[in-house]
Amino acid sequence: MSRDHPGSAARADAGNEIVGRAGELTTIQGFLDATGAVEMGLLIEGEAGTGKSTLWEAGLAYAQGHSFHMLRARPAEAESGMPHSGLTDLFEGAVLDEVLAEISPPRRRALEVTMLRAEPEQGPVDDRALALAVRDVVQLLGRDHRVLLAIDDVQWLDPASSGTLAFALRRLPGDHLHVLLARRTEAGMSVSELEAVLRGRFARLALGPLSVEALHQLLLHRFGTPYGRQTMLRIHQQSRGNPLFALELARVLQADTDPFGPAPVPASLERLVRTRLSALPGPTRDLLALASALGSISDGLVRRAGFDAETLQPAVAAQVVERRDGDVRFTHPLFSTVVYEALGGERRAVHARLATLIEDPLLRARRIPCCAPAISPCRRTSRAGHLLTSWTRPSGSPSREALQPSQPSSPSRRSA
Ligand SMILES: Nc1ncnc2c1ncn2[C@@H]1O[C@H](COP(=O)(O)OP(=O)(O)OP(=O)(O)O)[C@@H](O)[C@H]1O
Ligand SMILES: [Mg+2]
Repeated sequence: MSRDHPGSAARADAGNEIVGRAGELTTIQGFLDATGAVEMGLLIEGEAGTGKSTLWEAGLAYAQGHSFHMLRARPAEAESGMPHSGLTDLFEGAVLDEVLAEISPPRRRALEVTMLRAEPEQGPVDDRALALAVRDVVQLLGRDHRVLLAIDDVQWLDPASSGTLAFALRRLPGDHLHVLLARRTEAGMSVSELEAVLRGRFARLALGPLSVEALHQLLLHRFGTPYGRQTMLRIHQQSRGNPLFALELARVLQADTDPFGPAPVPASLERLVRTRLSALPGPTRDLLALASALGSISDGLVRRAGFDAETLQPAVAAQVVERRDGDVRFTHPLFSTVVYEALGGERRAVHARLATLIEDPLLRARRIPCCAPAISPCRRTSRAGHLLTSWTRPSGSPSREALQPSQPSSPSRRSA
């Protein structure tokens, strides 16, 4: 985000410039520049794929360049049932170590146990000690620099983290703290405790559609091919100016599609994504199901699940997942959402299956709700050890058991 020309230097992601959001970028910049606690929070909201994370990240990049202390979390849908997973992400990293020694021992211990940095030797963590520890950390960090508490996809923040943060924020003055949230708006979603406590102290930034020109620029940057005016109007109309929808449409629309003929693709973004995913080979989709419950998947876990590392290649080629830092991750959380939600009643079996595949006990406790002692117990079902992936089955075909482990896992590997 440039000071003089908001948006001119902002990046949507590696190498991709942000288009058509100059006003929004100015708002975010103004929020972060403001001192004297005008508003403590800014909530970026909009439908799936409209560009919330893109702007949220631009805000983080701006804050990074303006010496904020950064506390950030990007909860995934599969993590919303894992108590304190969001809080752990927020405080993971070096920033915590700068002030931990200054907190009273019972509060420090509560935070360390919650973050799985210490054993719970003295019984369960006291909620109030934890919340006060969070308050203390933010307050101490705020002595020398402003603090940015940033949470993307706040709709998936686990309620335990939300409650703890709400307690802490109620007891913090706003002068040195900025809270930047992004939320996907969907019918029937409830407001988190964190957002409730910020009520009256935060502004909303609702993202509308991008213009035809902005979408054209986006597609040009991404695919390097200019689109005809009529095709662009068609893409804009069908996507309703939603950038992710437009990118998905551009993948499937042929360059010579008749712009006046009937729409040759599904009418909603979710259906379009689901159709694209359904075209992938069955074993690839099985692995995507595991990845959606875990957030990412490593080659080690792929092997332990009995598959060849190449099984994911069709999804990599289709840009549904990408290899990053030794893991395979979804290129966009919506792909993960579509896979995870389609699992429906089979989610429990998927989590139980993962529990048998992940070797590292800490990681298991961190990532799999069934395995964390402090987390609500989930009984293994009689199906544990088998994963049914009905979302991947063509309708009418019999259900099948998938992901049988081929070999016992290697004891030398620690990563999932
Ligand atoms: N203004 C923009 N300029 C360039 N690219 C954009 C812009 N807005 C969004 N994109 C691109 O569109 C895609 C979707 O954007 P993004 O992930 O930010 O959406 P989102 O609103 O966070 O979606 P979700 O609700 O699923 O989390 C990404 O590939 C992103 O790079
Ligand atoms: Mg997002």
